[in-house]
Amino acid sequence: MHDHGIQLRIPSVNRGRKVRIRVDGRDLAAFKGETIHAAMIAAGIQHFRHAPGSGPRGVFCGMGICYDCMVRVNGKDNQRACMTQVKDGMEIQTLISKETGPKEPR
Ligand code: FES
Repeated sequence: MHDHGIQLRIPSVNRGRKVRIRVDGRDLAAFKGETIHAAMIAAGIQHFRHAPGSGPRGVFCGMGICYDCMVRVNGKDNQRACMTQVKDGMEIQTLISKETGPKEPR
């Protein structure tokens, strides 16, 4: 499902304050000012949701247009990971499973 074995952060880059987010029950390091999308990609998570009749989806446009990056944030479905900044303690769920997947946006 997810490949969590990759670490894509560049150690020499200065970032904002460290915050903790949780993605599918896994604690991830994130930094104030970055998006959920950035934190998830940096942790090697590429699949964010499942598109009915298609397959796993991830970040495509990275600027709020395609809706391929939707996740559940603190229990609220269909939040665009590329447009939502991380906050300390944020609970995020990918919407990969057909059973738990999002209702398609209207
Ligand atoms: S990647 Fe396109 S809306 Fe987020």
